[in-house]
Amino acid sequence: MSDTPRYLGRLRLGVNIDHVATIRNARGGDHPDPLRAARIAADAGADGITAHLREDRRHISDDDIDRLVDEIDLPLNLEMAATEEMLTIALRHKPHAVCLVPEKREERTTEGGLDVAAQHNHLAPYVRTLSNNGSRVSLFIEANPVQISVAKALGAAVVEFHTGAYADAAHAGDLELRDKEFARLTEGGRIAHEAGLEVHYGHGLTFDTVKPVARIPEAVELNIGHFLIGEAIFTGLESALLRMRELMDEARV
Ligand code: PXP
Repeated sequence: MSDTPRYLGRLRLGVNIDHVATIRNARGGDHPDPLRAARIAADAGADGITAHLREDRRHISDDDIDRLVDEIDLPLNLEMAATEEMLTIALRHKPHAVCLVPEKREERTTEGGLDVAAQHNHLAPYVRTLSNNGSRVSLFIEANPVQISVAKALGAAVVEFHTGAYADAAHAGDLELRDKEFARLTEGGRIAHEAGLEVHYGHGLTFDTVKPVARIPEAVELNIGHFLIGEAIFTGLESALLRMRELMDEARV
């Protein structure tokens, strides 16, 4: 058992701006610009900007990443697949954090996280090289003890637990499944923290589902995107973000 106290301070909010780029790319051109969203997020109190550079560039582009690095002061959390192409980009930019995520079906566990247990040998040099280059490496995994212990053995600084199954069950009204998934997220947080890993959560979180996750004492950061960008259509990004921040803060009291 670790003697380290559980994290009970202010929870960090990483705002994922991918889907601003999804809307831009639906028409081509420059509008709406994810950089403008990142600036609004920064002004509204986001603690970091998260962007996922997909192999097919379906939303965020290489130019977006260049501009995020050059023009936004908040820490950048670059989500990427463990491929040579992405590694080259990450090494060049040295983002504050790199979160390794699955790109292909065969890289995932059933919950959708990266199957680090099955891919240990492939991932090890990526975690080492990126860490040595000065980025905090995070692994986006299922909250499962085996995945957590392999993430630790790989030398990652952070694990981000996939909250999709919990959020989906909550929205479907399947309370039994929601509670089961939530218990796994809570237990995962405890195990990972005891192993000395920093604990993040993300995927599918909304105003309705964020509070229980924000209350998990080991949680240090939440990464939220799709819901915030969707909500921004109705209320504006600043308002959506401030409300999310408020709910997260209420949960920590
Ligand atoms: N965290 C990670 C690792 C992700 O890949 C994503 C996007 O899928 C998110 C958080 C944000 O998820 P969402 O857009 O559903 O809020």
